[in-house]
Order: sequence, then C-alpha cells, then structure tokens
Amino acid sequence: MAIDFDFATLSAAERYKLLCGLVVPRPIALITTISSDGIVNAAPFSFFNVFSEKPPLVVVGLQVKADQSPKDTTRNVRANGLFVINMVDEALAASMVDCSIGFPAGIGEPDALKLPMAPGVHVAVPHLAGAPAALECRKVTLMNFGAERDLLVGEVLGIQVRDGIVDPETLRTDYDNYMPVGRVAGTMYARMQDRFEIKPDTFESWQLRNDR
Ligand SMILES: Cc1cc2nc3c(=O)[nH]c(=O)nc-3n(C[C@H](O)[C@H](O)[C@H](O)COP(=O)(O)O)c2cc1C
Repeated sequence: MAIDFDFATLSAAERYKLLCGLVVPRPIALITTISSDGIVNAAPFSFFNVFSEKPPLVVVGLQVKADQSPKDTTRNVRANGLFVINMVDEALAASMVDCSIGFPAGIGEPDALKLPMAPGVHVAVPHLAGAPAALECRKVTLMNFGAERDLLVGEVLGIQVRDGIVDPETLRTDYDNYMPVGRVAGTMYARMQDRFEIKPDTFESWQLRNDR
C-alpha cells in the first residue's frame, strides 16, 4: 500500500512539506557574500548540493523574502557574481541558524553575531574562520523559475579546509575530524556519526555469487 500525492492538486506549502520532509538530510551551505557597500552577508541554504567535478559546479535554490524582494544573498550574487559556501559542522550549527534571522540588508550577520572571518584566497569574499571547509565560488548562471525562485549555479575555484580534515596526500576526508550537520525538516538537524559501508560487486562477482 502506498499513498499517492498528486502534485497537481497540492499547494506550494504542501509540496514544500513533502519534499523537505522526505529528501533528507540535506547538506547546508552557509553562504557568505559581499554587498556593493562592502557589507559581508551570511545566510544558510539547504536547497544545495554539489553537482559535478568537471566542471566543478554547485547548485543553490534561492527563494525570495516574504515581501517578494530578493534575499541579500541573491542581490549580492547578482551584483558581483561571487560567493563562498561555508560547510556547517556541529560547532557552527547554532550560528548558522542565527544567520537565518532576517537581519536588514544594512546589517551583516557575521558582524552582528561576532563571527570571526578569514580573507578570501580565490575570491574577494571572506569566509567564516570557524567553517571546517569553505568553497570559494563564482556565479556561472542564475536561472529564474517564476517570481519567487532562482537557481544559482556556481563554479568552485578553490577550497579552504581546516587542518586535520583532509589528508593532503590521499585527499581523503577524516570523518572523525569532520562533523557536518544536515537539515532534516523544520528546525531538526542530523549528525553524521552513524556511518556504514557497502562495497559494490563487480558484474562478474555478482554472477558468481548468484550462480548465473
Ligand atoms: C537550515 C536552513 C536552510 C535554509 N535553506 C534555504 C534555502 O535553501 N533557500 C532559501 O531561499 N532560504 C533558505 N533558508 C532561509 C534563509 O537562510 C533566510 O531567508 C535568510 O534570512 C536569508 O538571508 P539573506 O537575506 O541575508 O540572504 C534556510 C534557513 C535555514 C535555517
């Protein structure tokens, strides 16, 4: 037995509940940008993922504010095309949520919340010094989907990673030192402490195991 939810008959709010409740946990991009007045902005986005490595692309879903005006992040990316995706770990989670407070455009979240910043290396946008990894990006395109939604596609120009997370020789990530959080639904978040491994078969070994 399964319940069918026909999206043609659902409101946007109902679709949001289903999509955001089921597609979990989602990675969180705490995005820093800079305004034309030099104000550094930070805001979290969980309609976010890495898309490819050749070219190295990330995608972010940007909604408008309740009054239908663009979010500060959208406005800044439109203006100068630069942004940094700060990955969010357990230590940064509460500050990440604070960054979603609707501060007016004239107030930068890192400044108001006293979050230490580090200068950009590949882009003229600072990242959060407390972020375990910061992906420095340039806008490739901003696709508009109706009055309320933009899809930001960005190219990663470089990554600043805190010492001890990635082995510089093997480029493997050490998950005992990297504790990202994911978004579940509403105000719920998930840790990544319970991991397990599944090794894929080759077709030949699958045939042998299944006597085919
Ligand atoms: C965990 C989390 C995930 C969020 N994901 C998104 C998202 O994917 N898209 C979006 O438009 N807003 C998202 N928001 C809301 C924005 O962070 C919020 O509107 C923020 O104030 C925007 O800031 P800005 O105007 O400084 O860009 C999210 C909030 C939280 C707490």
